[in-house]
Amino acid sequence: MPVPISSPAGSACASDTHGRPDIAPHAHAAARALLGDPLTNKGTAFTEAERDVLGLHGLLPPHVGTLDSQIARRRRALEGMADDFHRYAFLRELQDSNEVLFHALVQHDLPRMLPLVYTPTVGEGCERFSEIWRRPRGLFLSYPNRDKIADILADPALDRVKVIVVSDGERILGLGDQGAGGMGIPIGKLALYTACAGIHPAEVLPILLDVGTDNAARRDDPLYVGWRNPRIRGGDYDAFVETFVEAVVERFPNVLLQWEDFAGKNAYDLLERYRGTLLSFNDDIQGTAATATGTLLAAIRHTGVPLTEQRVVLFGAGAAGSGVAEMLVRAMMDEGLSEQAARARLWAVDRDGLILSDIPRLPDQQVKLARDAAEVAGWTLSGSHQIGLLDTVVNVRPTVLIGASGQMGAFGEAVVRAMAAGCERPVIFPLSNPISRAEAHPADLLAWTDGRALVGTGSPFGVEGVTQVNNVYIFPGVGLGAIAAGALAVTDGMFMAAARALGDLGSMGNAAGLLPPIDRLRDVAQHIALVVAHQAVEDGVATLVRSVLTPEHIAGLMWSASYG
Ligand code: NAI
Repeated sequence: MPVPISSPAGSACASDTHGRPDIAPHAHAAARALLGDPLTNKGTAFTEAERDVLGLHGLLPPHVGTLDSQIARRRRALEGMADDFHRYAFLRELQDSNEVLFHALVQHDLPRMLPLVYTPTVGEGCERFSEIWRRPRGLFLSYPNRDKIADILADPALDRVKVIVVSDGERILGLGDQGAGGMGIPIGKLALYTACAGIHPAEVLPILLDVGTDNAARRDDPLYVGWRNPRIRGGDYDAFVETFVEAVVERFPNVLLQWEDFAGKNAYDLLERYRGTLLSFNDDIQGTAATATGTLLAAIRHTGVPLTEQRVVLFGAGAAGSGVAEMLVRAMMDEGLSEQAARARLWAVDRDGLILSDIPRLPDQQVKLARDAAEVAGWTLSGSHQIGLLDTVVNVRPTVLIGASGQMGAFGEAVVRAMAAGCERPVIFPLSNPISRAEAHPADLLAWTDGRALVGTGSPFGVEGVTQVNNVYIFPGVGLGAIAAGALAVTDGMFMAAARALGDLGSMGNAAGLLPPIDRLRDVAQHIALVVAHQAVEDGVATLVRSVLTPEHIAGLMWSASYG
């Protein structure tokens, strides 16, 4: 954000009797406030003229730097650190002291920085959030303060907010309930909104709904910064979220709100309850679905097997897994299959084994995925108890295996070799994050399939030829497209359009993978935003007409980190 080259508000510069400029005391306070605000601070990059006018001499060392020299200094400090967790903490502090420099550093080298500001390192960042707590960022809306939500949102500093990412911290990556530490996720996702979609840092707002935590280790930690209470549930939880949504709609009627890392049932319920009230989507359900579908479409270009002939086994049918399943069903229907025929190409395995319709108390999203027990009557099984992943793979001979279970190592050698025996180019996506929760190490998948597998992982492993199948390929473009079109809702069609656009993009010169390289994520977001904005028009939810939704219109909305 450019700093105005004028005196801070009301800072009259008189002269003393010797003709020296005399900075009034409140001007000193304004100068310190300028340096203390991450949206206005430029650090050593304040010019001499700015230092004169703003009263910054003495508060800064005499050297006048540039953004490039600042990046070089921070980069050297970063690389000198012991491990990625310390790099994460260092980058969080930088973001809280100088947003332009933070974002310039990130944009400068996305492949290096994304794993530090987001997955996998953000997982430890959430687990140890209280330990590295320094300065406030975003809003903590806690249950005991539920009567004050509207007042908190009334802060004029929030006037420019366009995108909110909100979590209640209950299902952080595959790491479970992190309570208030879950704030690391909204902060990280919004850093990606800025890095990839160019949403200005003053226009993003991370929010943590602190309704307590059932993680006793967090509650018992003397350093824990959240509300030390078991989670509020049921009607009290629903009423709290309702108060929050009402306050958001009132304060930011056009805001885009992304639900993030809510636990299974809440994730579904909140999405369905509020998608007609707020411009909103759930990234774990819809973003993951579009990312996995788009990557599968890209993989199909390599395997040559049409989508309608794929046999897909999903391991872990929670928010992400069942979202993927439903989108694959719709994509197959778009390509000519009936819903019944499309569902017949999917098998979902969860903690009770293959999901069968006679399993009692199936969650709603799994009922639609359940297979009839009669279908498996003739299967060869290794035991009599439940039909596990290996039995399913042996009998189904899948062409695609997708993991969203958070179960490390679930795709073991026997499973993968059984799959590879039945298919020339197995497509295997262990999507679970962070690395400690991945269903398989990609190097093992390549070894067990003699290099024939097309592998995509949720987190980056640095293994050549492996694609990172992460929502960062989808949500920045979907969000930007929705904003660009002035959309009133985010439709399923917009996500399908994003998935197909991702699948069609090709690898943009990324010889090693199915998707474009990470350093092209801004181009990816811009391209997907255009397609999504057009789909919003098609679906009747845009407030702008198609003729104005040009690549130039999208590009004009994208901020790049510079002091301006
Ligand atoms: P979730 O908690 O809603 O779903 C997890 C599912 O796995 C549940 O249905 C659970 O019953 C099942 N499960 C647990 N243990 C199992 C076992 N031993 N065998 C079979 N199934 C088991 O969580 P969600 O949101 O679906 O996320 C799951 C994982 O996917 C997480 O690790 C998350 O980080 C990852 N994910 C990755 C994304 C990416 O961009 N690559 C995006 C969203 C999620």
